[in-house]
Amino acid sequence: MSQRIARTTLTALALACIATLGHAQQGKLKVGLMLPYSGTYTALGVAIENGFKLRVDELGGKIGGREIEYVKVDDESDPAKATDNVNKLIKRDNVDVIIGTVHSGVTMAMAKAAKESGTVLIVPNGGADAVTGPMCAPNIFRSSFSNWQPAYAMGEVAAKQGKKTAMTITWKYAAGDESVAGFKEGFEKGGGKVTKELTVPFPNVEFQALLTEIAAAKPDAVYSFYAGGGAVKFVKDYAAAGLNKTIPLYGPGFLTDGTLEAQGDAAQGMLTTLHYADGLNTARDNSFRTAYATKFKLQPDVYAVQGYDAAQMLAIGLNAVKGDLTKKAEFSGAIEKAKIDSPRGPFTISKSHNPVQDFYLRKVEGKENKLVNVAVKGLADPGRGCKM
Ligand code: PHB
Repeated sequence: MSQRIARTTLTALALACIATLGHAQQGKLKVGLMLPYSGTYTALGVAIENGFKLRVDELGGKIGGREIEYVKVDDESDPAKATDNVNKLIKRDNVDVIIGTVHSGVTMAMAKAAKESGTVLIVPNGGADAVTGPMCAPNIFRSSFSNWQPAYAMGEVAAKQGKKTAMTITWKYAAGDESVAGFKEGFEKGGGKVTKELTVPFPNVEFQALLTEIAAAKPDAVYSFYAGGGAVKFVKDYAAAGLNKTIPLYGPGFLTDGTLEAQGDAAQGMLTTLHYADGLNTARDNSFRTAYATKFKLQPDVYAVQGYDAAQMLAIGLNAVKGDLTKKAEFSGAIEKAKIDSPRGPFTISKSHNPVQDFYLRKVEGKENKLVNVAVKGLADPGRGCKM
């Protein structure tokens, strides 16, 4: 009898050892953070990293039972360096997972490398439509948006407000081009007309000549995509030219998210659409905001939410495979089926791996992008060209 107990205990011990060994063999999870830590998008990169780390903290420092080791690369929002940068993470550092990035052009280079190598990539911002379109892949997910999404929502809002003509102004690169195309689709479907599309090269901020052109043409509205440091400068220049008094300036919420401290009076009253807003006042968002403000002594913005949700998505996938990333189909399947409990409100993932989410209309009041209403509910990117 006692021998049998001893044997049973030994077997149990051996099994426990094997299980522990199994975990130990998996070792730390190497997470590559490829984000802008310099240039016009620096604040966005920092907010994404903060959000990601906040969620990891809440999970006790581990994801799918594995401790995390970070490897960081400053991508400088430079597409010319993107392939080399992402290959450092994949080939030199042998990371298990990549989180990145902000700039659409850099994100596309990352998606190409991830698709070729099979490395898991979660995009916490870069909206390039192609990433969840023709470039879509089972190992690539986005926790943010496609450039089309907030833009289309704003186009619908502008048309409903009775605006008939609009000029657009943006940086000449994928995010700007696709944002303008999304706005145009929503606006023209509602009876409006985009009369002229103006651009400056990324990341230039010399707007004067184009603002003079807008003032002369007097459209009913202006639609603009800028973000980070460029958004601060553009919104201030628009107001300094007196245009904010005569022609409403619309945009996706990036124009005023994380920037209001610096934009001050120039941004007051602006309407934008985004998948996040101040004053959502849900239990989920309130607890996120308190935790973020306590940890970083900063107010969170949309970028912080996207970083936080990238960690949530990674945890959902890794928990389903108990930390074993070789189980690729199970990993992806778990995220595909999930309802992600985001501070922005719950969202699901489309067939092409992009969030299906509500877009809020927000109005700048003081230092907040105050919730006005839900502009478009459960908006899914069309995922044009994605075959999976
Ligand atoms: C992008 O390049 O996709 C991009 C950059 C900054 C934003 C939004 C989109 O705020």
